[in-house]
This record gives sequence, structure tokens and C-alpha cells, in this order.
Amino acid sequence: MGPATAVAAAGGLVYVTVLVTAVFNPHNSAIGYAPTQPVPYSHALHVGELGLDCRYCHTTVEHTARASIPPAEICMNCHKSIFTESPKLLPVREAFATGKPLAWVRVHDLPDFAYFDHSAHVNAGVGCVTCHGRVDRMEVVSQQAKLTMGWCLECHRDPDRNLRPAAEVTNMEWVPDEDPASLGRRLREQHDVNPSTDCTTCHR
Ligand code: HEC
Ligand code: HEC
Ligand code: HEC
Ligand code: HEC
Ligand code: HEC
Repeated sequence: MGPATAVAAAGGLVYVTVLVTAVFNPHNSAIGYAPTQPVPYSHALHVGELGLDCRYCHTTVEHTARASIPPAEICMNCHKSIFTESPKLLPVREAFATGKPLAWVRVHDLPDFAYFDHSAHVNAGVGCVTCHGRVDRMEVVSQQAKLTMGWCLECHRDPDRNLRPAAEVTNMEWVPDEDPASLGRRLREQHDVNPSTDCTTCHR
């Protein structure tokens, strides 16, 4: 299939899917969307106060397209000895005992016709905070970026000021100690970072 046919085919798919998603996915691209979760898990407490790194729980974020949501086992590393009687943690203890995963509600959810890959961004030096905001201050996670195609493209066309050293990708407080654009340009050249704006990068 040539590129023109591929785009036409993607166009048809996109058209149908947009209608369906518009009906069934009303929260897509809603800044501030913050659904109530089955357990009142707080990033402000576990990351902001206790200092846990994102990758302690979101273990696949550097290796795969998806940033995994942690299984109850990870919570129980601590909660089999801390707050063992807490009613707030009852669903976690049940999930751990039965092996039936907790029903966390998705916050960010692109339509199925758009493809996103965490590892490509994190390994290129785009920090979590750039797209998700100050998660370390959130009692309840809320969507911070528009997640529209225009938002994706704005950075793909000119990523420089959004690049940081690889060691700082999960650091929510990092600030560059030089002009962000010139640091970004240097990092981009060093690591050969060139985000694509071809339709097939995100619509495959
Ligand atoms: C102790 C485990 C843990 C740590 C550490 C942690 N998270 Fe999470 N994270 C969770 C859990 C559990 C959820 C699902 C419940 C929720 O949305 O609050 C989640 C949800 C999220 C979501 C929303 C996912 C969605 O549904 O769209 C984002 C974004 C996120 N985390 C980012 C981060 C970032 C960034 C860090 C580091 C600064 C971090 N997390 C550290 C456990 C953790
Ligand atoms: C590294 C250890 C550690 C891990 C891992 C951890 N927690 Fe915690 N959690 C704590 C500590 C410590 C507290 C209590 C802080 C305080 O209030 O003194 C706490 C408190 C809580 C509370 C509040 C309990 C109450 O009754 O007020 C909830 C809910 C909670 N954690 C959920 C989770 C969930 C869900 C996970 C897994 C996604 C998780 N925790 C993973 C250490 C941890
Ligand atoms: C370039 C922007 C960007 C960066 C950087 C980024 N994310 Fe995301 N994140 C997204 C988007 C977009 C989604 C929704 C993906 C979807 O619906 O397919 C998402 C979804 C998530 C989810 C829900 C599970 C999933 O994969 O859909 C978690 C958890 C998460 N991000 C954590 C993180 C953490 C932790 C970091 C840093 C290590 C990070 N993200 C860096 C844009 C980003
Ligand atoms: C803040 C900047 C930024 C934002 C926002 C952003 N990207 Fe990216 N994207 C990048 C960078 C940097 C790369 C890595 C390019 C490289 O390594 O050459 C990348 C790479 C990718 C790749 C990997 C392409 C491949 O070759 O595998 C995909 C897919 C992608 N982005 C999709 C998206 C989508 C979809 C969105 C919006 C939901 C988005 N991006 C938002 C900066 C961004
Ligand atoms: C960097 C990622 C990225 C690239 C490159 C990209 N798109 Fe998109 N596109 C998205 C995302 C994410 C959405 C869903 C969010 C939205 O609707 O804005 C989307 C939505 C769409 C839609 C649905 C209508 C709409 O605007 O909501 C169409 C049609 C579309 N893209 C066509 C294209 C075409 C044609 C190209 C190439 C010229 C292209 N896209 C390139 C990320 C991308």
C-alpha cells in the first residue's frame, strides 16, 4: 500500500472513529478531567512527601508505549506493614488476595485511531511534567494538557525547549541552568532527536 492509499484508508477509519468517539468518549481533551478512583491514592503523599520515583510504579514507561498502572502487589510492598487496617486500603487488600485487579478509572485516553508511545518520548528527554503537570502535588490526578492533534504537532515541529537530560525525566522540579532553547538544541543534536509530523507516525 503506497503512502497516498495509506492516508486515504486512515482518513476513512478516522472519519468513522471520530463520530463514535465523540459520542462515547465525552471527556477526551478535557483539561481538568479528574475522575474519582476506587482507592483515594494520593501522588502528593507518595511522590511529593515520600519521594517515590514514578518508575517505582509506572514500571514500563521507559520501555513500552504504555506507562503501566501498578498492580496491588506494588502497593502491598509497604501496605502489608503500614496502615494494614485502613478502610481506604480495603480494595487493595482484596485485589492482592484475589488477584482481581483494581478498577482504576483512566484519566488520559486518546481516541483509538491516534497512536502514542511513552518510551519514544521519555528516552528522547521529554519529562513527565511537560505533559502531565505537577503530579507530585495532586491528591487526585487530573488531565493537564489538551491532548489534541494541534498540541502534539506544536511540539513535534519545535521540540527544543521541551528537552532535558535523560536523568531528569521524572524530576518534577528540574529547571535548566541555561537558556532552554540552546540546551534543547544541543541535546537534540547529541541524541539525534527528530519528531516526525507524518500522518502515519500517529495514525497507523
Ligand atoms: C506508589 C505508586 C505510584 C507512583 C510512585 C506514581 N504513581 Fe502515577 N499512578 C499510580 C496509580 C495507582 C494510578 C492510578 C490511579 C490514579 O489515577 O490516581 C496512577 C495514575 C497516574 C496517571 C494517570 C493515568 C491515567 O489514567 O491517565 C499519571 C499521569 C501518573 N500516574 C503519573 C505519575 C508520575 C508523573 C509519577 C512520578 C512523578 C507517578 N505517577 C508516580 C501510582 C503511582
Ligand atoms: C514505599 C511505601 C509505599 C508504597 C509502595 C505505597 N504506599 Fe500508600 N502509604 C505509604 C505511607 C507511609 C502512608 C502513610 C503516610 C502518613 O499518613 O503518614 C501511605 C498511605 C496511603 C493511604 C492512606 C491510608 C489512610 O487510611 O489514610 C492510601 C489510600 C494509600 N497509601 C494507597 C496506596 C496505594 C493504592 C498504593 C499502590 C499504588 C500505595 N499506597 C503504595 C507508603 C506506601
Ligand atoms: C509527550 C507527552 C507525554 C509524556 C512526556 C509522558 N506522558 Fe504519560 N501520557 C501521555 C498521553 C498522551 C497519554 C494517553 C495515552 C493514550 O491514551 O493512548 C498518557 C498516559 C499516561 C498514563 C496512563 C497509562 C497509559 O500509558 O495510557 C500514565 C500512568 C502516564 N501517562 C504516566 C507517565 C509518566 C510516569 C511519565 C514520565 C516518565 C509520562 N507519562 C510521560 C503523554 C505523555
Ligand atoms: C513536548 C513535546 C512533545 C509532545 C507534546 C508530543 N510529542 Fe511525540 N515526540 C516528541 C519527541 C521529542 C519524540 C522523539 C523523536 C525522536 O526520537 O526522534 C516524539 C516521538 C513520537 C512518536 C514516536 C515515533 C516513532 O518513530 O516511533 C510518536 C508515535 C509520537 N511522538 C506521538 C505523539 C502524539 C500522538 C502526541 C500527542 C498526543 C505527541 N507525540 C506529543 C515530542 C513530543
Ligand atoms: C504527532 C501526532 C500526530 C500527527 C503527526 C498527526 N496527527 Fe492527526 N491526530 C492526532 C491526535 C492525538 C488526534 C486526536 C485528538 C484530536 O482529535 O485532536 C488526531 C486527530 C486527527 C483527526 C480527527 C479529526 C480531529 O481533528 O479531531 C484527523 C482527521 C487527523 N488527525 C488527520 C491527520 C492527518 C491527515 C495527518 C497528517 C497530515 C495527521 N493527522 C498527523 C495526532 C497526530
